Amino acid sequence: MSDDGPLALSAAAAGRSRGLFVAFEGGEGAGKSTQVRLLVEWLTAQGRRARATFEPGGTPAGAAVRAIVLDRAHTGLAPRAEALLYAADRAHHAHAVLRPALEAGEVVVTDRYVDSSLAYQGAGRTLDLADVAAISRWATQGLRPDLTVLLDLPPETGLARARGRAEADRLESESIDFHRRVRDTFRALAAAEPGRYLVLDATRGTGELAADVRERVGALLEVHA
Ligand code: TYD
Repeated sequence: MSDDGPLALSAAAAGRSRGLFVAFEGGEGAGKSTQVRLLVEWLTAQGRRARATFEPGGTPAGAAVRAIVLDRAHTGLAPRAEALLYAADRAHHAHAVLRPALEAGEVVVTDRYVDSSLAYQGAGRTLDLADVAAISRWATQGLRPDLTVLLDLPPETGLARARGRAEADRLESESIDFHRRVRDTFRALAAAEPGRYLVLDATRGTGELAADVRERVGALLEVHA
């Protein structure tokens, strides 16, 4: 497996395009999909070419992987199998959606990316974080977001929101301790690289959060213009 080497570059830093790569991360019920949608709507209204995408399942092949990983019938799926399935989804997503769009100069906004694997499969399933990172790095050929927005909130709050919406899937059904480890890991990843993260208190209102996201992404677009 190759190390991160020269491939571990953000889209903009790689200098191969004017595209910008933004990821949203956070626990269950954090409001990521709403914020992704609002950001892309705003970018489009600014005349930018922008697209929303997501993991797992942002491609037709990925949708099949998503069905496997979220199905509660697969309780007891081996953690390593789970990690590889998410990585397979991500490999195809990076190849078929993320890289082509970034190379075409688009702003690409994804609902979940590598940090979700570090938090859920690494800390949640207690796999070695370095192994999970290496698998994702290999899967994506080192493609990293220019900015990761972490929508942070207590797992109790997020799970209550998510469970109000739909029946719990396989990951949502995990214990509160599992979801606490997930949250702690997201926060630790952000703290380790503050320049590449925007951490927001996701208990705040949707409009306020969207304004903070727009401010940060707007500033990045000026720098990378
Ligand atoms: P989804 O319905 O997209 O959840 P959410 O609305 O919370 O984003 O389901 C995705 C689930 O998959 C979610 O519980 C997090 C989990 N997941 C991982 O465990 N590892 C990963 O790498 C990714 C991308 C998601």
